[in-house]
Amino acid sequence: FHEDVKARGVLIVVEGLDRAGKTVQCQLLLDALQQRGHQVKYIKFPDRNSLTGKIINGYLQGQAQQDDHSIHLLFSANRWEAAQRIRSDLSNGITIIVDRYSYSGAVYSAAKENPDLSLEWAWQPEVGLPRPDLLLFLSISSEETAKRGGYGEERYETDAMQSKVRHLFERLLSMNHGHDVHLIDARFPVDQVAKELLNSTLGHLSERKPLETFAKLR
Ligand code: TMP
Repeated sequence: FHEDVKARGVLIVVEGLDRAGKTVQCQLLLDALQQRGHQVKYIKFPDRNSLTGKIINGYLQGQAQQDDHSIHLLFSANRWEAAQRIRSDLSNGITIIVDRYSYSGAVYSAAKENPDLSLEWAWQPEVGLPRPDLLLFLSISSEETAKRGGYGEERYETDAMQSKVRHLFERLLSMNHGHDVHLIDARFPVDQVAKELLNSTLGHLSERKPLETFAKLR
């Protein structure tokens, strides 16, 4: 018995520190996959255009203050708002490249070192969201990103914050087992990094296993 089921799209997340080159790399990956004939979409979090996104944008630009927990939950709500759309696109065979996701959500909030906001607490609202098939982590030191242009314009873009974020990313990735994480050295020239991202992705482009969801941190 042979059933010819159309492969669902693949959920790919690109993560890393501010200025690691995520957005440029997502664009290059999108172009490369489209050239190969795949149906691909790019989305990014936070989505600053939605209702929650507008509040988040004001906060990031320093125009508004927010309680640490409250802004954290808004970042999470910003992803939940998109979850149904992500699921339906994937099941229609569309591959999605996501620029930042729950990993950023948990580590940036936990990096504030608010005693009531641990990494575990911060992860909890992500439980149940679609889990990526592939996580591409652009790895770079906080000193290296500080040298890149445009740094320091928004909240969180300080050396102290970025170095905490880096350590928390490492902790989170080591705790959240069970899915495919590729560490990509982002210090290299753009083209070289792009090639690595594409190579990591090509092996995953015919996913047939059901989409999974995030579980509690263990
Ligand atoms: P962006 O520069 O990729 O637009 O992200 C804006 C900032 O928001 C960046 O410093 C990371 C931070 N962030 C969070 O604090 N929580 C989240 O859930 C996400 C997606 C980003």
